[in-house]
Amino acid sequence: MTPPFGAFKKIKGELAPGGVPIRAVAERAGTPFYIYDAGVMRRQYARLSDVLPKAVSIHFSIKSNPNISVARVFQKMGAGVEVASEGELKLAFDAGFAPEKIIFAGPGKNEKEIRLAVKSKIGCINIESATELGRVLDAVGARRGSKTVRPARIAFRINPSFEVPGETIMIGGPRKFGFDDDAVEPMVRKALSDGRLDVLGFHCFAGTQILNSRTLTGVYDAFSRWAVETARRLDFNARLLNFGGGLGIPFSEKEGELDADLLGAGMKRITSRLARSANFRVARFIVEPGRYLSGPSGIYVSRVTDVKTSRGVEYVITDGGVHHALLPITLNKNYPTAILNKMNRKPAGEYVIAGPLCASMDQFSRKTLLPRPQIGDLIGVFNSGAYGYSAGMLYFLSHTAPAEILVDGGKAWIIRKPFRPGHGVDKAIRI
Ligand SMILES: Cc1ncc(COP(=O)(O)O)c(C=O)c1O
Repeated sequence: MTPPFGAFKKIKGELAPGGVPIRAVAERAGTPFYIYDAGVMRRQYARLSDVLPKAVSIHFSIKSNPNISVARVFQKMGAGVEVASEGELKLAFDAGFAPEKIIFAGPGKNEKEIRLAVKSKIGCINIESATELGRVLDAVGARRGSKTVRPARIAFRINPSFEVPGETIMIGGPRKFGFDDDAVEPMVRKALSDGRLDVLGFHCFAGTQILNSRTLTGVYDAFSRWAVETARRLDFNARLLNFGGGLGIPFSEKEGELDADLLGAGMKRITSRLARSANFRVARFIVEPGRYLSGPSGIYVSRVTDVKTSRGVEYVITDGGVHHALLPITLNKNYPTAILNKMNRKPAGEYVIAGPLCASMDQFSRKTLLPRPQIGDLIGVFNSGAYGYSAGMLYFLSHTAPAEILVDGGKAWIIRKPFRPGHGVDKAIRI
């Protein structure tokens, strides 16, 4: 049994996330839908907070699952939040995150977004370019008349020159993210000499789905050494170092779980060394995972509408597809998949699970071992709690968008209603 299946309860061979049998949910909510188990989210959060040093705060990367009820689970656990747009910033407020627990990352932040972030006095704006720094200064300047004005808290996002192996890496070489490490110092000097800015430190996001703890701590270590050296040259006492997210989750038994203990031990080593260095004595640290916290909690559930064979390949057609769950095909991973009402049955063969879209790419897997499928069965694509609903193409072919369900305390709640993609406007509006 692969780890994602193992995370959920089963009752008489039927999956029952949080103790709620999946067929009952499907009857009441209709298919397809996303279902998230709050218990699994809490377990993932606790696993990380148990091993990380006290000086490291966990910020939930809300882009991985921008449902307010999901964000509230982490908010109640004490997490901060990482946002990357005005919409996510507003969502974070609505979910109850205190402004100082919000950090704002992402390239190309526009004037409106930056004005809102400055006005709301959020914990940190991660600056990714000279233009963004200018926009922050404009936003603070525009508020100068106000008595409550205080310097905007910022950190500089760095694109280090060192390379890291992996498919989903976002640092090293030319990048649209942050400042190249060898070009950032004049910007930091400028910011440090400007009373309208409170420069906290540095940020680096290495990439996503990194399963090897040693790779992660290797990146954090190299980044922290760069930060120590840079802060020393700038004679700058940093108060924040943000190590980013990117913690991976297993997609098969072969991959195994991220070694959280090893990650925690590595972080302890790195942060203790930083605390001994003159320019980081009072610094706090951040990690901002998304997938690790929300991914394993979620399953995308659809119903089998047809079973057919084409030239020896067996197809299972469902009422869900890549318009709702795009990543299984684009991330190039075989997402763990099962027939949720037949969890105890033995595999009968290999099947391609496909959706109703007029596009060949509309399939969840290349081939998956399944018990014999029948019309009416419920197919579950696991690891769908991150970059699932938020990374679909909901308007493609105008199928109804799926519901989102949260199970918590033995009960199931609809946390986003299904909706039929509309026409946009009934009548074209002249502009
Ligand atoms: C700046 C930043 N922080 C955090 C994340 C979350 O990454 P993950 O879900 O891999 O932990 C991302 C994802 O793209 C990101 O760009």
